[in-house]
Amino acid sequence: MALHAAHHGSKAAQSESASTRLRIGVLISGSGTNLQALIDRARKGSLEADIVCVGSDRASAYGLVRAQEAGITTFVVSYEKYLKGGRIDSVEDAEVAAVDARQRILRDQDHEVRRDRLRRLMAAEQEIAAHLETHGVQVVCLAGFMRLLTPFFLNRFRQGDLPGVVNIHPALLPAFPGQHGYRDTYRYGCKWGGITIHFVDEGEDTGPVIAQAVYPIWDEDACENVQQRGLHLEHLMYAQVVNWIARGQVRLVPRVGGRPRVQIEDPAYREVVGSWVEAAFRHRPEVVHRRT
Ligand code: GRF
Repeated sequence: MALHAAHHGSKAAQSESASTRLRIGVLISGSGTNLQALIDRARKGSLEADIVCVGSDRASAYGLVRAQEAGITTFVVSYEKYLKGGRIDSVEDAEVAAVDARQRILRDQDHEVRRDRLRRLMAAEQEIAAHLETHGVQVVCLAGFMRLLTPFFLNRFRQGDLPGVVNIHPALLPAFPGQHGYRDTYRYGCKWGGITIHFVDEGEDTGPVIAQAVYPIWDEDACENVQQRGLHLEHLMYAQVVNWIARGQVRLVPRVGGRPRVQIEDPAYREVVGSWVEAAFRHRPEVVHRRT
C-alpha cells in the first residue's frame, strides 16, 4: 500500500512526506487503555507507525492524560456544541444530501429531522478532520470513540483502495454490534468471546474485518473478568494491526456479489493469531470477580 498523505493534506503532511513512517491519529472517548497499549509499544520501538495526535469528543476522557504524559498533541471536539447549538451554515445542503444517500447510521424516517442531525454530525466531523489533517494523519484509529462517523468523514481518510479509518470492537462481529459487546456476549452465555478490528464503513460495526481473535469464558467468570480478558487481547491485537497496515500487508479483496474481504499478507499471520488466542486462554484476571 502506498502511504499517501490524507487528501486534504496540510503543510505538516507535505513537509513530512519524506518520512515513510505511517502517521496515525487516535480518537477516544474514555479511559484509553488501547491508546496506552499503542503508546507502550511505540516506547518499546515495536510500533511501526507514529501516533501524531489524539482526539476526543469528551474533555474528561482519561486517555487525553495518557496522551499528554506521552508528549502527544491532543484535541477535543465538543459534539454538544453542534448537536444542541443553533443553525449550522458550515455544511452545504448538497453535501448533506449526498452523504445522506450513502450513510447507514441515521434511520429517522423524517427527512428534515434526519438531515438536520446529519448536518450537525458533519460539522463536528469537519472540526475533527481539520485537526487530524493539520497533523498529517493518514490512518485514523478509533479506540473507544463512542460516536458514529458518517461517509463525509470516512471519505477524507482513504489510503488508495483501502479505507483509512479502523475500529476495535469488543465482540466477534457480526455478533453483538453496538456499545456493549462484553456485556452482550456475557449475558448471552457465550463460551467464547471475541474481538474484531475492522475498517469503518457507512454502517455501525459493519465494515470489512481486518482481524479477529477469541478468548474463553469460564463458568466461574463474572462479566468484569470477561472484559479484563478481552481487553488483554485487544491490547495485543491493535498494535499488530497498525503494523500490518504500516507495512502495506493489508489488502482489500473485492468479491463479485459479496462483501470485500481483507487479506493479511504477513507470512507469520497464523503464528500471530495463534499467539493471541493462547495468551487469552492463559490470561488470569488480576482481580478475580466471581459469578454471583
Ligand atoms: C474497548 O473495549 C474497545 O473495544 C471499545 O471501547 C473500549 C475502549 O476501551 N470500542 P479503552 O478506552 O481503550 O480502555
